[in-house]
Amino acid sequence: MSETDAPDADDEPRTSERLVELAKRRGYFFQSSGAYGGVGGFYTFGPQGAALKGNVEDAWRERFAVREGHMEIDAPTIMPEPVFEASGHLDTFDDMLVECPECGESHRADHVVEDNTEYEDAEGLPIPEVEEVIAEYELVCPSCGAGLAGQDVEDFNLMFATNIGPGDAQPGYLRPETAQGIFVEFPRLKEYARNTLPFGVTQIGRAYRNEISPRRSIIRVRELTQAELELFVDPEGDGPDLTDVEDVPVTLYPAAEQNAADGRAYETTVGEAIAAGTIADPWIGYFLGVAAEWYESIGVDMDRLRFRQHLAGERSHYASDCWDAESEIDGNWIELTGFAHRGDYDLSKHDAHSDERFTIFTQYDEPKTVERAVVDPDMSYLGPEFGGDAGRVVEELEALAARDRSAFDGDGVTVEVDGERREIPVEKTGFAVEEQTEAGEHIVPHVIEPSFGVDRLVYTVLHHAYREDEVDGEPRTYLELDPEIAPTFVGVFPLQSDDALEEEAREIAATLRAEGLSVTYDDSGNIGRRYRRQDEVGTPFCVTVDYESLDDEAVTVRERDTTAQKRLPIADLPETLAALRSGEVSFDELAE
Ligand code: GLY
Repeated sequence: MSETDAPDADDEPRTSERLVELAKRRGYFFQSSGAYGGVGGFYTFGPQGAALKGNVEDAWRERFAVREGHMEIDAPTIMPEPVFEASGHLDTFDDMLVECPECGESHRADHVVEDNTEYEDAEGLPIPEVEEVIAEYELVCPSCGAGLAGQDVEDFNLMFATNIGPGDAQPGYLRPETAQGIFVEFPRLKEYARNTLPFGVTQIGRAYRNEISPRRSIIRVRELTQAELELFVDPEGDGPDLTDVEDVPVTLYPAAEQNAADGRAYETTVGEAIAAGTIADPWIGYFLGVAAEWYESIGVDMDRLRFRQHLAGERSHYASDCWDAESEIDGNWIELTGFAHRGDYDLSKHDAHSDERFTIFTQYDEPKTVERAVVDPDMSYLGPEFGGDAGRVVEELEALAARDRSAFDGDGVTVEVDGERREIPVEKTGFAVEEQTEAGEHIVPHVIEPSFGVDRLVYTVLHHAYREDEVDGEPRTYLELDPEIAPTFVGVFPLQSDDALEEEAREIAATLRAEGLSVTYDDSGNIGRRYRRQDEVGTPFCVTVDYESLDDEAVTVRERDTTAQKRLPIADLPETLAALRSGEVSFDELAE
């Protein structure tokens, strides 16, 4: 995460502090297992938070799976060790750890450097250099202030390990990204896609990272929810249709600008950025455009969102290029989504490590005549000569012919079987170069991956919706959430404690629920306090039943943002509120 150029950096006290307090009080999110002291990096979404998160996930599913025509799967969160040997996570999914010699607290060494020096990308530095910077700047433990100079910085693997079944014969790991659950099923998924590229597979689910120092409430957690799309493409194939996204405005902060002394983020459009080569891959550009419109639709403030390209040193082990969507939170930029070009990294690794093929057969436009080097060994020679190894010798000869036909130029050819060199006369190999007509070829597809952190999206939506104003001379806090994303859409109240008013209000609440609206019924405390409660939750509308309602069959509807009120017929409520929710009509436009 870099923290440059962000607005509001001096905005004290921080909105985040107030938001976290509101989130706990109003049931958005709070630290888990509080009865046992809580543990860092684990959060429970309360009733409002779970509903908001569900709405964000539904909106994501609708845009990135359903509308794009992609599949959705639901894979296990625990996977066996060989998956992560192949994916590279066992070897490389590390953060830099430094331990305080005084208090024993562990810290991310790159964060200690970034927070206290001018370095913005310490994650990309080699460990010895981070140790040098710590010593040179005389950096201290963020917890107790003891000096960290001279302490070893070590790689710490972020995966949670477990054992599958009793004993330790089958180690497993909680997945660090949902993506691997998609990649390992590629041989089956390509069948569902009728072996045709491009095709996309999505998944919304939990991932786990044993963060050294979880921080900032739900922004850096140890158990998180990801919404990931893995798009499998033919690297030689047609790119996306950019018609719908080329004019989408985006704020870009390319690597070149970050490296320049006076570099800045700037506004452009997706089409211009692709044409200029700033966004190298049109698929990445396509998803930046789709995502920009989607963020706006769920209530992200687009003046506080930018797309930042990864610097070479900060890219994940699998990525050849990556852009992060970052949102501004109290003066800091936090990563919301990574748009990574993973090339053929993942499928090639699983192809090499497993017994299945992670390739797809792509047909040429026209059949091609190609030259192939083949062998047809004389088994009456190889059998007696190599005994039980003869089969392996044949396999090696086939592979060598495909790889390096010049190896057959002399009188003899050498292959290696189990480390032992075997010499075979070329005349016994049946080596020949033949012309073959081929309809297509097996290729390893490339992967374009938009990977969304749902918890951070929820946090951003709440933070960007947080408002403070004054109503009737009293300070008020409210969340200006989009009506389609707000966890509760309408509050229904009887004006005061009265059987007839309560019965009518309950009936209205039941009718609106039956129409699919999210409704809360509240009859506790005075009406002003009930409005304030719903304002803090972000409920866009409230309906109040009073004594007049019993005669004129109408109720007072109050809008959250303006606190304006209108008298509307009870019979029209389901239709009117549904139109307000979808944005078909605004509260201002409603006739009383
Ligand atoms: N799948 C990308 C990530 O988890 O970072």
